[in-house]
Amino acid sequence: MAKRKATVGGKTAVKKAASDRIFMERMQRHHDELRWLYMELYGNDDMFAELCDQMKWYYDQRSAKLKKLDAEREAAGAWYRKRDMLGMMMYIDNFAGNIKGVQEKLPYLEKCNVNYIHLMPFLDSPKGRSDGGYAVADFREVKPELGTMDDLAELAEKCHDKGISLCMDFVMNHTSENHEWAKRARQGDGEYMSRYFFYADPSIPQEYEKTVPQVFPTTAPGNFTYLPEMGHYVMTTFYPYQWDLNYRNPRVFNEMMYNFLYLANQGMDIIRIDAVPYIWKELGTNCRNLPQVHTIVRMMRMIGEIVCPGIVLLGEVVMEPDKVAPYFGTVEKPECHMLYNVTTMATTWHTVATRDIRLLRKQMDIVCSLPREYTFLNYLRCHDDIGWGLDYATLKEWGMDEVAHKKYLNDYFQGKVEGSVSRGELYNEDPVTGDARFCATTASMCGVESAGIEQDEEEMKWAIRKDLMLHAYMFTQSGIPMLYSGDEIGQVNDYTYKDDPDKAPDSRYIHRGKFNWDLVDNIKDKTSVQGRIFNGLEDLEKIRRTEAVFNTDAEVYTKDYKDTSLLWIVRKSEGEELHAVFNFSDEGRTIWMPEKAVYTNLATGVTEEVETVELSGWDFVWMKR
Ligand code: GLC
Repeated sequence: MAKRKATVGGKTAVKKAASDRIFMERMQRHHDELRWLYMELYGNDDMFAELCDQMKWYYDQRSAKLKKLDAEREAAGAWYRKRDMLGMMMYIDNFAGNIKGVQEKLPYLEKCNVNYIHLMPFLDSPKGRSDGGYAVADFREVKPELGTMDDLAELAEKCHDKGISLCMDFVMNHTSENHEWAKRARQGDGEYMSRYFFYADPSIPQEYEKTVPQVFPTTAPGNFTYLPEMGHYVMTTFYPYQWDLNYRNPRVFNEMMYNFLYLANQGMDIIRIDAVPYIWKELGTNCRNLPQVHTIVRMMRMIGEIVCPGIVLLGEVVMEPDKVAPYFGTVEKPECHMLYNVTTMATTWHTVATRDIRLLRKQMDIVCSLPREYTFLNYLRCHDDIGWGLDYATLKEWGMDEVAHKKYLNDYFQGKVEGSVSRGELYNEDPVTGDARFCATTASMCGVESAGIEQDEEEMKWAIRKDLMLHAYMFTQSGIPMLYSGDEIGQVNDYTYKDDPDKAPDSRYIHRGKFNWDLVDNIKDKTSVQGRIFNGLEDLEKIRRTEAVFNTDAEVYTKDYKDTSLLWIVRKSEGEELHAVFNFSDEGRTIWMPEKAVYTNLATGVTEEVETVELSGWDFVWMKR
């Protein structure tokens, strides 16, 4: 017996040595650069040593299963770049009540062909002062009504068994005012006050206000909040209850990295780094995208590659185009693995409203000219508003003025413009600048809501066609498509948020409604709205995951065509060529193919010689040769 034990012990020791070796190798690969950057920012050897020790600790804590997955993914390279990758984002409570509920609903998500689930913020956060969960009170606790950390780890395991990846938010710019650190800071504890930005005197906050724009000009004006009980101002870029963390303090960086690794060890595959451009503040600047932000993201990438290399960093960079791509870093020194394709999203809706594809084409050309390793997350709608961050310099050349155009877009999507079928609401209308953003679901913006209310079947046909065309276009873009839960059944705006005093001031809740499971029953009926949208998407998804032209490393570019309502995208891979043409107008068109040749229409499956294709308004074709 004793002998056997010794063998087992021996085996364990051998395993441990092998595991330690892997860590050491990875550490060696990155150590010098990591140390260099850390010292540049903090010049603190002790804190760096602590960080390294803790990285090893979290590595040791990581389960054997996750370590195996890490190794597989390291060997596979960019494992998330697959043509069948399809994401869906959802609020746990809206979708399935709690985490266990999500687990029960995995078969539905598989039916949606989804293999990447983004669970919207679920960590402990005070009710009514949570910004949809983006004010975290405890990075290691799940909101009690949603379940426990163990439920989350179990869900991750179940997802992995089914080949599904799990994404969560890492809200690193700020904590809730109810976070332990904030509570201690509020008691006047200097050690904790130094983790935030506190000022007794209003002069520095006033200096900041001169150069820092506002995120929520109406719902949370200003970048500071006065705390009368302390006699201090605290920096709050977002809501007053979201206190900005001070990353000049190495304790903040280290502790937040430990939180990141803790969450990674629960089995997360993709970590969305929330509001990352804001994490470094400097007086006299706009406090966005400062060089130190990139130092921090680069360090995070290396820390991930050492401890948990299977993890993908998804940067939430909702900024103008030239500020976005730098978050990929360089090929030698990468930062984020994935970024949101935010300008393309906003420009898509601009195209819907104007029926003029020129700006969208220009934007897509910029994206297509970037290195192919850069992976964008494409989407039509998400949980946030649509900010009209368009290329106004170009629009100006075409005679369009920024202020007037934003007003037009907002009027159009509210359904106030002749011919518009969209429904939705403004967001953070700025009384000073007249600026506003927009909120609604995809289906409501496409006309499903108005056609439904008017019970107008003809209008409904148009709305569904537009909705499917936009999804087909999203699937044709270079990158990974992400659906917003409910869009697969054409869920429309939910106005009940107005009855909840906690939500009423924030119109983003109009598209954060409860998922309507009753409507899911309708998908079996191919003539119902839900059936038409769900099955239409299903067909598109099937084509996308089976056809090589949708390979993620395909060559993608747009084609010059004389008609400014037709967007023409070409994808080339494995010797095949896809001509994808989208009609952003109400009128039908005859499209001339580049030459008379044999094409397969991927939607109908018909292969024949064609020279021209007839396309109805708001319709599309996928022609392959
Ligand atoms: C991100 C989130 C948004 C939130 C903000 C503050 O932009 O997407 O919903 O309000 O961060 O955390």
